[in-house]
Amino acid sequence: MNRLIQYMLPYKRTMLAVVLSILVVTATGLLAPWLVRAIVLIIETGAEDASQTLTLIAVGLVAIYIGRSTAEAAVFHYSHVVAFKTCRDLRDAVYTHLQRLSPGWFAARKSGDITTRVIDDTLKLEPVIADAVYGFVVSMILAFGILIILLFLSPILTILALLPLPIAVFIMVKIGRKAIPSFDNEANREGDLSALVQDHVSGIREIQIFNQEERTRRRFLRKSDFLARRQIRSRTLIAPFDPAVEGAIGVSTALVVLIGGRMALAGEILVADLVAFILYIVTLYQPLYSIVGATEALQRGLSSLKRVNDLLDTAPAVAEPEHPQLLPHPDRPEISFDAVSFRYHDNQPVLRDLSLTIAPGETLAVIGPTGAGKSTLAQLVARFYDVDEGRITLNGVDLRDLPLSVLRRQISMVLQDVFLFHGTIRDNIRFGRENADDAAIWDAARAAGADDFINALSGGYDTMVGERGIRLSGGQKQRISIARALLKKAPILILDEATSAVDTETEAAIQDNLDQLLAGRTAIVIAHRLSTIRRADRIAVLENGRITQLGAHDDIAQQTGTYARLLTAQGTAAE
Ligand SMILES: Nc1ncnc2c1ncn2[C@@H]1O[C@H](COP(=O)(O)OP(=O)(O)OP(=O)(O)O)[C@@H](O)[C@H]1O
Ligand SMILES: [Mg+2]
Repeated sequence: MNRLIQYMLPYKRTMLAVVLSILVVTATGLLAPWLVRAIVLIIETGAEDASQTLTLIAVGLVAIYIGRSTAEAAVFHYSHVVAFKTCRDLRDAVYTHLQRLSPGWFAARKSGDITTRVIDDTLKLEPVIADAVYGFVVSMILAFGILIILLFLSPILTILALLPLPIAVFIMVKIGRKAIPSFDNEANREGDLSALVQDHVSGIREIQIFNQEERTRRRFLRKSDFLARRQIRSRTLIAPFDPAVEGAIGVSTALVVLIGGRMALAGEILVADLVAFILYIVTLYQPLYSIVGATEALQRGLSSLKRVNDLLDTAPAVAEPEHPQLLPHPDRPEISFDAVSFRYHDNQPVLRDLSLTIAPGETLAVIGPTGAGKSTLAQLVARFYDVDEGRITLNGVDLRDLPLSVLRRQISMVLQDVFLFHGTIRDNIRFGRENADDAAIWDAARAAGADDFINALSGGYDTMVGERGIRLSGGQKQRISIARALLKKAPILILDEATSAVDTETEAAIQDNLDQLLAGRTAIVIAHRLSTIRRADRIAVLENGRITQLGAHDDIAQQTGTYARLLTAQGTAAE
């Protein structure tokens, strides 16, 4: 709740407008029964100018109702203004925070659930701010005002009228306690369902080819049904709210009629006061009633707020340094692994006590069996994760002491799973250098061997790719991703199986271009194809999280070991 208030604070002035309008609404609400009392008084006492006063009162009533509805419209408008703006700011904060979280955090979560938190959960706070918060404020002021008037009219009757109140409040609190976890549960189920849909949409081809429509539909329906049951259950839980309030109003009114009526008969209280009293009772419980209305939104809202808070309170696993250091010689990067051990979660260590130095300008090829930890090694250099033991340094500075933006400015990377954004090919290539001109984009595409196929597309560089765009082949995507990395022109280049889906001929052409581009840059090239690897300055064989062989092709090809075996297996030993 504190966080919500914190995000509402910038809209103090609009909120002030809401509060002022609320005061008008409540004042007019208090005035109306008072005028009715005046009418009864006039009729009872039969003053001379009674009819004239009645006309005045009628005019007054019209004014009150016009004033009241105008103020209500203002409250409605401005409270939603505050609410939607607050939600937008909160949503921005969630999104901004998401970007600071490490890839490991995302890997452990369903993207559908994350989306739900950014969009649905922040939006569910809108009615809380607009209706619930406002409802509570009005209710409190109104209830307080009425109480004073009631006490003025008759202290005894006031006590009678308030008797059922504690019981009603007790019931409401009890129900609320049960309802909150139920609404929590509901919000989580919604996240689940949206994650499931996202999963099935992404895997629609797998579903169709394996004929699994029926089974996936059943899983969807089961979750959807589960959500509906949760939603119904939450509503069932809060259903007794209404009767509790209505019952309390009924009992209150009955008590007042019973005792107050007798008092009026005995002349101990004016009829006008009794009438006004009964009218005020309904108004007294009215706030309670609007609290009830606001409660549902509030419960839902609190659950959503909890989910949003959880996310905002997640500290990024990869944190910015407290005392950032300067990077010496940024254009001559030397990467050094110093007794590095790393594991994902509590699994087996992926890298064990690994030490390795890549000299400035050197190209190091990393090979090894699948699952050996090659991609992990590359991602550690980009600090997607932090090492558990040892350290990785760039020109002698621990990566953890460099501002993340400084480190990443040094690195161009082609990831093993290529991702293209929804947008044109041009936009995707210049993703890392927004202001790159066409000539630079074409150069990068040519070097990546992508120019020919892009020009063959009817839309050329303006072809839409990514989600809802045309589907590119795996090799085409890889080449766009290489062009994207090359255009960034960073001093460190990391290629993780960047050409694995490209045919050997195209790969050789890309390699020729790369050789020139790699000159002067420090590069890590992960590949399976030996033809790609043997051009590197040195080759590291990674097995079981350790480097088992390291050296130039000519040197380690002679050693008996994994590299020699791979050469034989790929039939290039004779070359
Ligand atoms: N995000 C992750 N969470 C948990 N474990 C992971 C994660 N990424 C990789 N691993 C595990 O770490 C190990 C090394 O994976 P890595 O991707 O580095 O291997 P690789 O050498 O690149 O393999 P490949 O040649 O198939 O690309 C594997 O056992 C893998 O299951
Ligand atoms: Mg890999």
